[in-house]
Amino acid sequence: MKNTDSISHLRGESVYLDDIPEIAGTLHALVFDSPVAHGKIKNIDYSKAEKLSGVVKILTYKDIPGENQIGAIIQDEELFAEDEVHFAGEPIALIVAETERIARDAKKLIKIDIEELPAITDPVTAKEKGSFIAPPRTFKIGDTKEGEKKSKYIFEGRAETGGQEHLYLETQGSYAVPKENGHITLYSSTQGPTAVQQITSRVLGIPMNMIELDVRRLGGGFGGKEDQATPWAVMVALAAHLLNKPVKITLSRHDDLRMTGKRHPYIANYKIGLSEDLKIQFYEVEFIQDGGAAADLSPAITERTLFHGTGSYYIPNAEITVFSCKTNLPPNTAFRGFGGPQGFFAIEAAVQHAADKLNVPAFEIQERNLIKDGDEFPYGQIAENAEAIKSWKTADKNFNIKKHYEEIKKFNAENNKYKKGMSVTPLCFGISFTNTGLNQARALVHIYTDGSIGISTGAVEMGQGVNTKMKQVAANIFSVPVSKIKLETTNTSRVANTSPTAASSGADLNGKAVEIASQKLLKRLKETAAEILNANTEDIEIKDEFVYLKGSKTELSWDKLVSDAYWKRIKLSEKGHYATPEIYFDKTKEKGHPFAYHVYGTAVTTATVDTVRGTYEIDEVKIVHDFGKSMNIFLDKGQIEGALIQGIGWLTMEEIRFNEKGQLLSNALSTYKVPDINSVPKVVEIKELETEGAKHAIMKSKAVGEPPFIYGTGSFFAVQNAIKAFNPDYKPDFTAPMTHEKVLLGLYEK
Ligand code: MTE
Ligand code: HPA
Ligand code: MOS
Repeated sequence: MKNTDSISHLRGESVYLDDIPEIAGTLHALVFDSPVAHGKIKNIDYSKAEKLSGVVKILTYKDIPGENQIGAIIQDEELFAEDEVHFAGEPIALIVAETERIARDAKKLIKIDIEELPAITDPVTAKEKGSFIAPPRTFKIGDTKEGEKKSKYIFEGRAETGGQEHLYLETQGSYAVPKENGHITLYSSTQGPTAVQQITSRVLGIPMNMIELDVRRLGGGFGGKEDQATPWAVMVALAAHLLNKPVKITLSRHDDLRMTGKRHPYIANYKIGLSEDLKIQFYEVEFIQDGGAAADLSPAITERTLFHGTGSYYIPNAEITVFSCKTNLPPNTAFRGFGGPQGFFAIEAAVQHAADKLNVPAFEIQERNLIKDGDEFPYGQIAENAEAIKSWKTADKNFNIKKHYEEIKKFNAENNKYKKGMSVTPLCFGISFTNTGLNQARALVHIYTDGSIGISTGAVEMGQGVNTKMKQVAANIFSVPVSKIKLETTNTSRVANTSPTAASSGADLNGKAVEIASQKLLKRLKETAAEILNANTEDIEIKDEFVYLKGSKTELSWDKLVSDAYWKRIKLSEKGHYATPEIYFDKTKEKGHPFAYHVYGTAVTTATVDTVRGTYEIDEVKIVHDFGKSMNIFLDKGQIEGALIQGIGWLTMEEIRFNEKGQLLSNALSTYKVPDINSVPKVVEIKELETEGAKHAIMKSKAVGEPPFIYGTGSFFAVQNAIKAFNPDYKPDFTAPMTHEKVLLGLYEK
């Protein structure tokens, strides 16, 4: 079944935030932001801007009736800067005008006098100066000193990954519509409607029940709208609240690039030890994370780096530490993988480092150390139904890793203008919010008197197809066609207290809630049918829109049954509540069972480097993926393709640059290169691993949103291996992204 939005997307009829028809009298807002990365505000002169015709009001922190505080995990971020600014692009004021154009003209008339203060623009300096978001955290298993004694080979090094711009097609924005009695309806392009509702309530000083969030769909989020959709919504809500007029904001691409945070850059200092037979004996790693100027989701992202510190391997002695550092850059935030990819990259770099020194292909080390059933993760969970080895073996059987390696060697021996490299990437990704409390969801299912169905959940559609999956869950239980089911907007008045759609768990959590509500309704409808047909409920089945009695079809159709049930005054609406069972985590011990299950897979990546130009192409990525039992293979394969290419982009071409003053240089698509149709691998082959699925996955179909991002890791190492084949003097370092520029320098390094 295809994404139910595909036809309206294709026709351009799908409604995004900026497509919502504007109510007459709608005002438009624009943010006035800090020009410097760190400074004391001496004076701001708004007088000329305020006098411009069409400017309605300029709002600052002084206009906030509640708290000037938007921090979710740690309350360390002002909505509008008061006396001090902490990053270039930090909001200071909101210009509300009749048109956006007028607001832009007004912005130019604001005069700000700032005393610049020294800015910290890299996390290493932040660490040296003791500038942290939160205290460091460490996960430990075994004893690394013991592991060191057992190691024949020990290697120390550094791995570095850069930031990444989300580049959702739809930029951040929100539309606030005031209602009677001070109520507000807020349309927001957010992954977390409840988060927006909570923070709006805090800033406006009004209870949450006065604020209704409504989300149709997002033009992409990728984590960038888990927390950072909030400020814009709060700002227009504040304006609407004070002016009693509808107010709208849509960030321009340029403003979105400058003002919002990105994936966290990390530096990892590692030490790895192996025994003679290439078993990893110990791994010590210290991560230095660039959190930016405020906490945002950094503490939670830190956690997922810790959880994925040992990648897909069993390492008996490991110690993983993350320092979350505070700098004067925009606060970094959630991005597909949520700190996991940075952890995976470091362990893969350490393994590659060992492989280079020992003169073996990395896959010889990788395969020997894959996690298996009964092995303990550093966080105490024991691996169950671990498919790491099975997916590796399936990849090997289908793609013949060793033979492929030999063929590449042969190609490289015979060619000089082009060199090839390959790599293998094993995947093991934990599913559940690492913050156990967030693993809950609710759904509301109505059956209307004509037999059509309406479903509301807490899940937000952002292109991943969660709405299609929700329909499939209900259609499957009621045995009606998907066309009978409508998915309502995600609305906090219908489904309250929602977790953000994140952690790849949107379909699992909300789907289970739909399942629970639908099962309750189905049971009641079967009882009603039994009553009508004078039969036992156990003998009733509903199939393809008809009631079956003891296996044979009756005259009683679904529509008739529903209508009869209504006149019998049977309840045709239900709510489902789901909370993932069995999971827990004890932060005082840093041990527990945080994940409902893990997703596994293996990718084999091949790249070709042009040794004259330093350009490269990813020839092919061949994947065996553990979907469980995929409920929608079109959507799921689409998620793998998208995540893979996003991962490749992160590690090979996307390069975020700030100048030493903390101003974003890569602030347009002319200076920030993302993968396009020409840079995607020429071959992407995705094979389903045959497994039983996981019981906590919706319809046994495992979460697929983030895990395949990790497959992109292989692109870095494949390109690097190709450089090694050309230049014996090349001294590989593990600094991503592997840009064309870096490749060229590597090819001719002496
Ligand atoms: N796919 C599309 N098309 N657009 C997106 O914004 N976000 C990703 C992933 N796939 C995203 C996407 C991220 S970061 C997450 S956490 C999951 O989808 C969230 O949705 P799910 O929980 O329903 O998988
Ligand atoms: N993943 C993604 N988003 C989150 C998480 C997580 O584990 N925790 C809080 N937000
Ligand atoms: Mo995804 S980074 O959990 O929104």
